[in-house]
Amino acid sequence: MALWGGRFSQAVDLRFKHFNDSLRFDYRLVEQDILGSIAWSKSLVTVNILSADEQQRLEHALNQLLASVQQDQTQILQSDAEDIHSWVEQKLIEKVGDLGKKLHTGRSRNDQVATDLKLWCKVEVNYLIQAIKHLQQQLVNTAEQYQDAVMPGYTHLQRAQPITFSHWCLAYFEMLARDKGRMQDTLVRLDISPLGSGALAGTAYPIDRELLAKNLGFAGATNNSLDAVSDRDHVMELLSNATIGMNHLSRFAEDLIIFNSGEANFIELSDRVTSGSSLMPQKKNPDALELIRGKSGRVIGALTGAMMTFKGLPLAYNKDMQEDKEGLFDALDTWHECLTMATLVLNDIKINYQQCLDAAKQGYSNATELADYLVANGIPFREAHHIVGEAVVYAIAKEKALEELTIDEFKRFSPVVEKDVYAILSIDSCLNKRSAKGGVAPMQISTAIKKAKNSLNDSVS
Ligand code: ARG
Repeated sequence: MALWGGRFSQAVDLRFKHFNDSLRFDYRLVEQDILGSIAWSKSLVTVNILSADEQQRLEHALNQLLASVQQDQTQILQSDAEDIHSWVEQKLIEKVGDLGKKLHTGRSRNDQVATDLKLWCKVEVNYLIQAIKHLQQQLVNTAEQYQDAVMPGYTHLQRAQPITFSHWCLAYFEMLARDKGRMQDTLVRLDISPLGSGALAGTAYPIDRELLAKNLGFAGATNNSLDAVSDRDHVMELLSNATIGMNHLSRFAEDLIIFNSGEANFIELSDRVTSGSSLMPQKKNPDALELIRGKSGRVIGALTGAMMTFKGLPLAYNKDMQEDKEGLFDALDTWHECLTMATLVLNDIKINYQQCLDAAKQGYSNATELADYLVANGIPFREAHHIVGEAVVYAIAKEKALEELTIDEFKRFSPVVEKDVYAILSIDSCLNKRSAKGGVAPMQISTAIKKAKNSLNDSVS
């Protein structure tokens, strides 16, 4: 039976019932709904709606229900209850009879759903932070393993300057550190309890809402009941965080797909995360990475959908808000799964050292070094830039790398070039010179790896 039958004389059209019901997706809030109900029952004792004994009986029955759904959540889906709040109440009444009907005193599904969802988000944020940290740990491990793997760094997807695979890994470590920070910030803002805001104007019972909030593990209670029941900022924030996080994972995936291409052949992906072609027996496709890249689309879509749904909604609760859940659940599940997949891909990755090094040597990626060499010998940078440009054109025509030009050939472009230029043009020199903070020099990378490890050990969550 619906929670609101008294006002109605006709049964609802079944097609409307299906359209209106949310149990098929909000069943995921069951644990939060039960915990919220236990806390609410305790508040009802303080305003003399329940005796201590009645509260004990309700709490006992709710705990039994909790244990049962922890065993098997799918049992909920067998029911035709409208939503998870109705389901919990129905089950409670089945267990304790009329006493169960007292629980909803002074409470509305509007403050109830807002509370359940916030409690659920708190749990989920912590899971996601753990998944982010696992990937960060894997990035540091891989960075440590491949400190001497030199590869080309790109701008405009043109070989630009040599970097190491470690440096690439640590770039993603930084992005993930910001993703984690965003989640921690969101957690602070969402950790405020709406329970006791009633339908919209506040509960009519003199409940200590701060105590109620503390009992539920919230940092405090909301200030305004209208805002409390209609606020879904945390949904939009988490979807924004997920969108940015998926943006990072999608770039990570795309980089690796390029490194894995037949043309680059810088890396080899494990059989554990690739699949074959049904037609072409030689193929080993980077499906895990392509799916990460592809799934970023639906997460961005969920954010856009939520923004559109909440935009222009009048205060306070409107049924439109029931649309907050499916997109959020799907986006956070997707982000979580992609973080796990990215960790798995990296765990077994193999770097083709020689291939990477050869590519780093091609493309005149040491041209900047030659310009800096000329600057060190008294030539203004702008002029040096021009001279090197001419030398590169010459070297291309001769099909030579810069370090393969003879001193006589160099002197055609500038008389200041001497034998010491060859050491400057070496890959080691290119890397070592970038020793300012954040640069690719091996000693900077070792420092960055140490710092990254410490940050993972330090962070409390
Ligand atoms: N299933 C609803 C939701 O998710 C619960 C709140 C219903 N409130 C109401 N006034 N009909 O938003």
